[in-house]
Amino acid sequence: MARTVTTFPLPDPALELLRTAGEVAGPDGWRDALAEAEALVTILTERIDAAVLDRAPRLRVVANAVVGYEHVDVAACRARGIVVTHTPDVLTGATADLTWALILATVRRLPQAERSLRAGEFHGWGFWDYLGGDLAGKTLGIFGMGRIGRAVARRAGGFGMRVIYHGRSRLTGAEEGEIGAEPVAFDELLARSDVLSLHAPLTPATRHALDAGALGRMKPGSYLVNTARGALVDEAALARALREGPLAGAGLDVYEREPLVTPELLGLPNVVLLPHVGSATRETRTAMAVLAARNAHAVLSGRPPPNPVPG
Ligand code: DGY
Repeated sequence: MARTVTTFPLPDPALELLRTAGEVAGPDGWRDALAEAEALVTILTERIDAAVLDRAPRLRVVANAVVGYEHVDVAACRARGIVVTHTPDVLTGATADLTWALILATVRRLPQAERSLRAGEFHGWGFWDYLGGDLAGKTLGIFGMGRIGRAVARRAGGFGMRVIYHGRSRLTGAEEGEIGAEPVAFDELLARSDVLSLHAPLTPATRHALDAGALGRMKPGSYLVNTARGALVDEAALARALREGPLAGAGLDVYEREPLVTPELLGLPNVVLLPHVGSATRETRTAMAVLAARNAHAVLSGRPPPNPVPG
């Protein structure tokens, strides 16, 4: 009889910890194993809603092995006394690094150049071939100045970019000074950013924050980069802004209806598309799974979990 059910394959250190509290079932047949489960370890591809919870009358904790938790009906969990946890901090560095990789790939047009070489189009160094843009001296705009936004901002100094930001809450003056970031209104963020990077959580207030109107107010020739959540952006409007302006390009790691990508984006030459790999390093994914296991284990042991979701 499983005490913990997992919806995805866990690495050994996470399994070993959970097994000290009882049997672990899944990922195969995880829904059927829920009847006796007290802990569910899961990720963003599974919607944990009332229908799932109905199958799990003994459940005490939903331990997400990701930081975003919009796929979990937190209110339904709380109404049943189920704790919801997530994995902040452990993926901040990997996601900030990937954001910079995507900024560079987008502005320097690296995938386009690589595809051209593989297609046999590299006939020697050409003075005007494969041109991208410079980052130094340009303005990086950050929408959402949480852990990952701040980590992206900190890395901007290395590329000689100035940083402006807009978020739910303001950093303290000391933090702004240390990071070198200037707070601005949303419209100023749109108008001034040469590269606008999204790091806000997906909530009803941020869904389609970058809609047709907002995209239309972005700086002509600027770039949009999204490693947060796809639904922050209206993808159809983005495709139009990439085709007709004002955007010069976009780098996307996340999509409105994953794994679907708006087909028009696939055909555009000025967009770099990644398959949601922000936190995809061996070290980080292991750390995420282990932290989720620690959260589940804490609840199973009658202790408060280290990372309950806020609110
Ligand atoms: C998260 O943790 O929410 C990320 O999107 C996974 O990379």
